[in-house]
Amino acid sequence: MVRKIGVLTSGGDAPGMNAAIRSVTRIALNNGIEVVGIHDGYRGLLEESFEPMTRQSVSEILNRGGTKLGSARLPEFREDEVQDQCIKNLNRAGIDALVVIGGDGSYRGALALTRKGINCIGLPGTIDNDIAGTDFTIGFDTALRTCVENVDKLRDTSSSHHRCSIVEVMGNHCGDLALYTAVSCGAEMVITPETGYDELEVLERLRYLGSAVKKNHAIVIISEKICDVEELAKKVSLNTNFSGRATVLGHIQRGGSPTPTDRMLASRMGEKAVDLLMEGIGGHCVGIIDNHITSVPISEALERPRASRKQLYRLFDRLV
Ligand code: F6P
Repeated sequence: MVRKIGVLTSGGDAPGMNAAIRSVTRIALNNGIEVVGIHDGYRGLLEESFEPMTRQSVSEILNRGGTKLGSARLPEFREDEVQDQCIKNLNRAGIDALVVIGGDGSYRGALALTRKGINCIGLPGTIDNDIAGTDFTIGFDTALRTCVENVDKLRDTSSSHHRCSIVEVMGNHCGDLALYTAVSCGAEMVITPETGYDELEVLERLRYLGSAVKKNHAIVIISEKICDVEELAKKVSLNTNFSGRATVLGHIQRGGSPTPTDRMLASRMGEKAVDLLMEGIGGHCVGIIDNHITSVPISEALERPRASRKQLYRLFDRLV
């Protein structure tokens, strides 16, 4: 029987993490389970930075971006000795299960701890939407809203000046944020790890849009880690009718009040995490598939390829 659960947020923060912390805390307390908040991800576990959670500890955080508990990346957590020390700390605090809110790196840690005897449940908290076993991650919808708001603004100015705006968005190695932004903003081009990148093709297409189609402006949405967007913008100015300008949206995408969709998702997923732990299940991660909250073993989610986005890329192509 689970008596005390710990909750932590790990990796890059994402809007909606607070809503997930609140949900886990309130649902657990309402079932007579004590809750301990662990600060700064796995680092807090290692350094025993704990706080007892009450109903009030999670008041007025539902609408706040960031994470009340703090987050961090702890590469050393891969080491056996570090994990063993964390298990000792958990045992000393009487914590018998854990909810880990984060991305795939955080899931690996949760799996390791489960294999060493502490049941852990993973909740997908990342703006990248790069986790298999769920259609959407907590924070993706809010980040998408931020991208769309900003690209809409860029469109205003780029159309006034006959420019091509090259907008770099986050996503780590996943193109979802770029793809959804491109469809939602009516961009002229989208470049992601899934589309691949060929500089000559990009310039050729922009030349065509500027001279043959006589487009007044163009928006190119590109995932991070693909090319130097400032350099690309210079080449656009030199080789096409457009004057190129680059914008890197950066960490602004990680902040802001979560959308209702993210608040709902986080609240539903938090509930599922506590239910699973009460059933004695560990080593699973929660997902949403076709609007149903589900769970799969973390090992499966880490190995399984993500669902194909072919249809959405096709849609983008058909809308241009
Ligand atoms: O995983 C979230 C994310 O924002 C990625 O999109 C990005 O590549 C990375 O984190 C940035 O990490 P950091 O905040 O450590 O610079």
